[in-house]
Amino acid sequence: MTDDHVTTHQAEDDARNERILIWLNGRLVPKAQATVSVYDSGFMLGDGVWEGIRLYNNRWTFLDEHIDRLFEAARAIDLDIGMDRAGVIQAVLDTQAANGMTTDAHARLMVTRGVKIRPFQHPSLSRSGPTMAIIMEHSRPKLPRPIRLATVPHIRGLPMSQDPKLNSHSKLNCILACIAAEKAGADEALMLDVHGFVNTTNACNFFIVKKGQVWTSTGDYCMNGITRQKVIDLCRANAIPVFERNFSLVDTYSADEAFLTGTFGAQTPVGMIDGRQIGTGQMGPMTERIRALYKALVGA
Ligand SMILES: Cc1ncc(COP(=O)(O)O)c(C=O)c1O
Repeated sequence: MTDDHVTTHQAEDDARNERILIWLNGRLVPKAQATVSVYDSGFMLGDGVWEGIRLYNNRWTFLDEHIDRLFEAARAIDLDIGMDRAGVIQAVLDTQAANGMTTDAHARLMVTRGVKIRPFQHPSLSRSGPTMAIIMEHSRPKLPRPIRLATVPHIRGLPMSQDPKLNSHSKLNCILACIAAEKAGADEALMLDVHGFVNTTNACNFFIVKKGQVWTSTGDYCMNGITRQKVIDLCRANAIPVFERNFSLVDTYSADEAFLTGTFGAQTPVGMIDGRQIGTGQMGPMTERIRALYKALVGA
């Protein structure tokens, strides 16, 4: 990947990732054998839910919150994961042990409605139970420069369509947003809400810093990001004024700093939005401070 092609989920190359074992329906299998059926609901229709979690110093960060969100999402789509919380956590720990990982790992837990008997949409055609997989990789986030964003016409789903709080397998609207941003010469997309206020990016939550204050969207139209909430909590605990509020692109272009949050990259600096440099174009002091507070919180 060149400097011209940067993503928020970029990590150092790690040759060990070619030899990882994948947890697939209760078995640990080499990557090349970790395959699912073309009849799988996830492959065919994006019918499933997922979580991304990160390991710092032998601890899966905010694991309870991630497992809560996974079960909430499964319940929302009426999908029986087929195991309880303890079972899911054990599967994560087994995968970690099998791969000999102790820190700087990232796992994607995925559960789909499973294999269908016919290649059509109706959920009742998935009859043999869910498909669950855990991809766990060695992962140290590494960005060559701050991220560049471009605003796009796409919005995340509305609560009455594909709720933006669902970590659904199908990410097509976010992928379309990302493609549009790339075509506009940026790395990823800045998505507005249905009223035109600044909302989120296609893969992370979005914050700006203005005159010592930290602003993020109301939270009504974006993923209820766990990192987002931790950043808000850290600001409150450290007397940094933080606001969940509506704001527009006018407020955003003149921000002193902007950054993204997500489990993968923690806090990712934003250098440019729609061709306008944000602040100095480099990571600003508030972003640095919040990153340090977050690092201390997760024990990284
Ligand atoms: C669209 C979107 N926004 C934000 C996030 C970040 O959420 P979290 O901080 O819980 O990783 C994610 C990650 O799943 C996401 O898919």
